[in-house]
Amino acid sequence: MKINNLNKVIVPIAGLGTRLLPATKAIPKEMLPVVNKPIIQYVVEEIIEAGFKEIIFITHSSKSSVENHFDQSFELETILKKRVKRRLLKEVKSISNLKISIQTIRQGQALGLGHAILCAKPIVQKEPFAVVLPDMLIKKINEKNDLFELKKEFEKSGKSQILVGRIQKKDVSSYGIVKLQNHLIKSIVEKPSLKKAPSNLFVIGRYIFNNDFFKYLKNNKSSNSGEFELTSAIQSFIKDNNEIYSRKLSGNYYDCGNKLGYLKAIVDYALQDEEHGKEFKKYLKNNYS
Ligand code: UTP
Repeated sequence: MKINNLNKVIVPIAGLGTRLLPATKAIPKEMLPVVNKPIIQYVVEEIIEAGFKEIIFITHSSKSSVENHFDQSFELETILKKRVKRRLLKEVKSISNLKISIQTIRQGQALGLGHAILCAKPIVQKEPFAVVLPDMLIKKINEKNDLFELKKEFEKSGKSQILVGRIQKKDVSSYGIVKLQNHLIKSIVEKPSLKKAPSNLFVIGRYIFNNDFFKYLKNNKSSNSGEFELTSAIQSFIKDNNEIYSRKLSGNYYDCGNKLGYLKAIVDYALQDEEHGKEFKKYLKNNYS
């Protein structure tokens, strides 16, 4: 039974994407393509499939192409119509006819992920909310995606939820790492050294919080680098006896915020592409096996 309706998702896209420079000097990393769609489109499709009704993009002045991508393009549609490119026209139209409302709010300065999420408070108001980090692509393997399951669990229990996955020990210093007791998250630490990591379970960028969490984002202290991190707000939330439950990832993840993860995404998505997947596989076999 549903007792806690969850409709809103915050998608922060105001970061600078420095790990993918120079590709991201003039193009937002969310607009980099994986096969024939920008990364952000896969993420928006995942959110719609999970059953959310509203997306709040936290943006920056350099990210207008993300907003434009989801807007109607009359000029392009007119040209495609004139040239009788029916399939392309249908595809282009479907992007601006998505069954979800999209709002944007600016984060004037990239002061960190925690700060970016707090910027959405005037829109979220008193409701619970999800946070989806768009540089992490998750390819589902079950009928329902992980975000859907996370949402379903929250709506049943009203307890905050975080999706976690296993990584190789050598990679713990690149992510937020959690310590669990059964499914309950006991603590979280941002980018720990291998020695200090409490486990090899990392936070994958899909979160659901009850509204109280905003208080912890507001009182959050900045890190040594001057950023207001999400991890430190989560740790304070837990310390105050607020429960956050973990759910293990079932799909495959691709961290497109770094070069290697982005390359893996391109290859895997290309191999499964309906139009060219088979030929691409043959190409790889002939040239690289
Ligand atoms: P990251 O730290 O992974 O992304 O933030 P980044 O800052 O864009 O990239 P690098 O580290 O310089 O390569 C995770 C998410 O949080 C957003 C980013 O856009 C990304 O989607 N973010 C980060 C903000 O919206 N605002 C910020 O101040 C920081």
